[in-house]
Amino acid sequence: MADNQKKLVVLTGAGISAESGISTFRDSGGLWEKHRVEDVASPSGFARDPRLVWRFYKARYLQSLEVEPNPGHYALVQIEEQLGGRFTLVTQNVDGLHYRAGSQRVFEMHGRLRTAFCTACNTKKDMSELDLELDIPICPNCRAAMRPDIVWFGEIPYYMYEIESALKDCSVLMVIGTSGAVYPAAGFVMTAKYMGARTICVNLDRPDNMIFVDEFHKGKAGEILPNLVEPLLNSLA
Ligand code: OAD
Repeated sequence: MADNQKKLVVLTGAGISAESGISTFRDSGGLWEKHRVEDVASPSGFARDPRLVWRFYKARYLQSLEVEPNPGHYALVQIEEQLGGRFTLVTQNVDGLHYRAGSQRVFEMHGRLRTAFCTACNTKKDMSELDLELDIPICPNCRAAMRPDIVWFGEIPYYMYEIESALKDCSVLMVIGTSGAVYPAAGFVMTAKYMGARTICVNLDRPDNMIFVDEFHKGKAGEILPNLVEPLLNSLA
């Protein structure tokens, strides 16, 4: 691919899945109103009470199987079909809805609900291969405790090298449905802007990192994104 071709990076957060019926974290009624982050999303929380942590993620996994992608997810599939390798999709979401919508390549930087890995031998397994009746699913390989394949607070997100490379090389970064509260993802819009990219945000409310946003589309991702596909593709032609 010629290096002067225009490239798009998209970062999504919980807001893009809200219209599929999945709770966000920080909105009113969000997950972090009902659960303490340090209890269910940290290595120390898991060490203290693995049963509680597993209850939380099993419920989220089972819920993710029941919901469907929405027009916001499908708009991103359409963009990937047109741009191919000029498009990079990064998500903080662990629900797998981008893949289920048909996206081919997704950097799930905070992990995924549909897999777990062994705390002793690192064997990775699909959740469908584990006995979820157990309070703490065990490794089929070595019988140690499995843990959810989620990047918890204090852990390093996945694919950081690939994401940083794409950010440095993109002409447009679009962030969708994320509050801009959790780093390193919250810093992507600043990195891309300083590297010369145009930054677009689609969100219900102004995100915390609004200062780095060039173009703000206020509203629901599932309503706004389908109308943005064409102008966006034209601007990247
Ligand atoms: P948040 O809950 O922090 O933010 C969701 C954002 O989506 C808010 O700014 C909402 O205004 C917006 N929103 C809600 N519904 C929307 C819709 N239909 N269309 C567009 N925008 C909408 O979720 P994230 O920013 O994704 O990490 O949270 C980042 C990380 O914090 C998560 O990945 C998770 C959490 O702690 C871990 O669990 C490791």
